[in-house]
Amino acid sequence: MTRRKFVCGNWKMHKTVAEAVAFVKELEAALGEAKGKVQVAVAPPFTALHAVARAATGTSVEVAAQDVHWEAKGAFTGEVSAAMLAEVGCRHGIVGHSERRQLFGETDETVRKKVGALLAAHLQPIVCVGETLAEREAGRTLEVVGRQVRAGLAGLSAQELERLTLAYEPVWAIGTGRTATTAQAQEVHAAIRAILRELGAPVADRIRIQYGGSVKPENAAELMAQPDVDGALVGGASLEPNGFAAIVKGALR
Ligand code: PGA
Repeated sequence: MTRRKFVCGNWKMHKTVAEAVAFVKELEAALGEAKGKVQVAVAPPFTALHAVARAATGTSVEVAAQDVHWEAKGAFTGEVSAAMLAEVGCRHGIVGHSERRQLFGETDETVRKKVGALLAAHLQPIVCVGETLAEREAGRTLEVVGRQVRAGLAGLSAQELERLTLAYEPVWAIGTGRTATTAQAQEVHAAIRAILRELGAPVADRIRIQYGGSVKPENAAELMAQPDVDGALVGGASLEPNGFAAIVKGALR
């Protein structure tokens, strides 16, 4: 089964509107042979989403939000709904990022609600899962990731599952320069794929599973060459267009 690779840049709290718009133009120019062959998205801060989506119109770059609220509207100061994200040109929404889980109280339950909200607004969720260093050292990686996958996707139909992407991001590899080995990544990706088979047998082989955690041009190709690694979710190394394009091109090898 060949799955088209999907590489998404997660900018976190970086880039002004002007910087974000300039980035899209430079990225499109730098993508070269990867254009159209690899699915590419960037996730700017909320403030830059509209401008980036406009700048990306007619290019091969798609736009993702970094988070979303699960309600459609209401008294939720500081929050943004899925329909609002769709209106400004988002196609994807990241949910369950470990920074949201660790710093902002995201739980498996809120992840599941956010997945539902994104799907209802015709957006494609990127659902992040991953174990902490303590959990890995205690031999609990597959248990923790399995719980996050099952809870985050609970009750979804095969058709709904097919519209989402998983991102395996070991917490100890995020922003640390310490990447999972290809074997560590493949082991967890295969375990996630097995759970997807249980949850939605007919479509499990079509769902992309990205790896995230200190992905850079030097390690991207090797990681994405693993049979169940279908792309990357890239933080720090997605902030510079040429380096990010080099990571995307790693998916072609
Ligand atoms: P990193 O972040 O590439 O800077 O490690 C990845 C992520 O948080 O998605």
